[in-house]
Amino acid sequence: MMALESPIHVPVLLQEVLDHLVLPPAARVLDLTLGLGGHAEALLAKADAETRYLGVDRDPEARARALQRLGSDARLTIMGCAYEDLWDEPQFLAWQVAQAPGGFDAILADLGVSTLQLRTPERGFSFRDAGPLDMRMDPEHGLPARAWIAEQTDESLANAIYQYGEERASRPIARAILRALHEDRLETTRDLARAVYTVIPREPAKRKGHSDPATRTFQAIRIAVNGELDRLAASLEAAVAHLRPGGRLAVISFHSLEDRIVKQTLRRLAGVYDGPGRTSPVVLPKLVKLVHPGGIAPSEAEAAVNPPSRSARLRVAERLL
Ligand SMILES: C[S@@+](CC[C@H](N)C(=O)[O-])C[C@H]1O[C@@H](n2cnc3c(N)ncnc32)[C@H](O)[C@@H]1O
Repeated sequence: MMALESPIHVPVLLQEVLDHLVLPPAARVLDLTLGLGGHAEALLAKADAETRYLGVDRDPEARARALQRLGSDARLTIMGCAYEDLWDEPQFLAWQVAQAPGGFDAILADLGVSTLQLRTPERGFSFRDAGPLDMRMDPEHGLPARAWIAEQTDESLANAIYQYGEERASRPIARAILRALHEDRLETTRDLARAVYTVIPREPAKRKGHSDPATRTFQAIRIAVNGELDRLAASLEAAVAHLRPGGRLAVISFHSLEDRIVKQTLRRLAGVYDGPGRTSPVVLPKLVKLVHPGGIAPSEAEAAVNPPSRSARLRVAERLL
């Protein structure tokens, strides 16, 4: 575990989140991805003394950092849990009955990995430094990336890389990765990147200013290892069900796959039919209204100061009844 020094994750779309989650007096706030508490700190700074803020994260190291940063604030409760599992957790149910029986005024989900996770080589998320092939957001549960890869066939690995990484060279990359595994050359994140480079050499991409050829494969394996998209739609539906009328859900996604799920789920909850044909075969209930239906992108100024924010999209839905 890294030494607990100053936070290194810059909250994305912070002003836009503050503009769209305006907290009433005695607000009840649920932060599904507390991370290092950047958004939480800013939201709490705008909230009154009666506000209660529940921050959830599946990563023990993130929770330790958030605790170090915000632990003295009695309005905050921190819970270790994957948000997909939150809704039936006894600890959550007890907190909700005691603190937010009428539902939440604001729910925030800032999806994906934090810079802390990406920049800590021992967590195994990054191809820039050699680390163990892990990639679990919660290192206490699930299979590390190497063990997950060892369970794959050429076809299942290629499918995951294609589906979650939108990588066109998924088949030869999957074969190269499994070859490296069977020849005992797949221990570290660098080994994984090296296997990708045997299919897409690094130099031309670097010279042309493109992203590293390993980026899409790393994204894909990380999404698969953490089951990141498996229950996202259901979690957003559950979040909306926990809003009080007029309460808002704000979701920040970081890549097009994630954003597509967020967009489609919120549109469906807003009663918009996206299926084939011109009209819906059934009348969809209209639980929310979409605030900025096109989503909100970071300003040019933010993208210039914090380049990883460039791909972020914020979508906001307001509960109607
Ligand atoms: C982008 S960071 C959040 C940063 C935070 N908003 C801040 O300002 O510091 C995403 C966080 O969500 C957590 N996370 C990702 N998927 C999760 C899940 N399914 N359940 C709970 N936490 C999750 C990650 O561990 C990570 O700390």
